[in-house]
Amino acid sequence: MMGSVAAQHFAAKKNGPETCPDVEDLRSAFGRLPSGVVVVTSTSPCGEFAGATVSSFTSLSFKPPLVVFGLAQRSTTLSAILSHGHFAVHVVAEPQQDLAMRFASSGTGKFNDVDFRLSPFGVPLLTQFDTFLQCSLERAQLAGDHQLLIGRVLEVSLAGQNSKPVAWLQRRFHVCERHSAL
Ligand SMILES: Cc1cc2nc3c(=O)[nH]c(=O)nc-3n(C[C@H](O)[C@H](O)[C@H](O)COP(=O)(O)O)c2cc1C
Repeated sequence: MMGSVAAQHFAAKKNGPETCPDVEDLRSAFGRLPSGVVVVTSTSPCGEFAGATVSSFTSLSFKPPLVVFGLAQRSTTLSAILSHGHFAVHVVAEPQQDLAMRFASSGTGKFNDVDFRLSPFGVPLLTQFDTFLQCSLERAQLAGDHQLLIGRVLEVSLAGQNSKPVAWLQRRFHVCERHSAL
């Protein structure tokens, strides 16, 4: 009996009117979740460098080493990654906040006056970052107005660990201070 009541409930929910939360409410709710920030770079088929600031990035698996993040369908970095098949992920810490805001803008010129070298795959590696990953695209899945990208980590670069980490919260960076254990 209980089973059939539950089944009716879920059937009603499934067939009921689609709810559509206010976008600003969604932004505010998502904005209350602190997240790490990375800059993802790649290269378009015509050799133009692409890069975007991303807060949807997270680790997914150790064996095999996988990462995941979402990019808007309109992102030029998304089309570069989809056609090239390789990308780099740079972890934003305190010294790279301005650079992260630059890569959050649209248009060309993001790489002007930025130091980088090319990976063996031709992807720009930003030398100002201590921590970055070189990845190959494992899978892409359309998800609403974004694409979900899963990448396989091919190489990890870890320079000094002295920079303070940052978190993106309520539309601005917060520097994470180390507190001694109580
Ligand atoms: C802190 C921060 C996090 C962001 N995270 C994402 C994200 O996860 N996915 C996304 O598509 N855009 C994200 N953006 C917006 C992109 O960085 C922005 O749209 C950028 O212009 C994309 O550049 P492109 O079109 O050259 O790829 C974020 C912006 C900021 C400031």
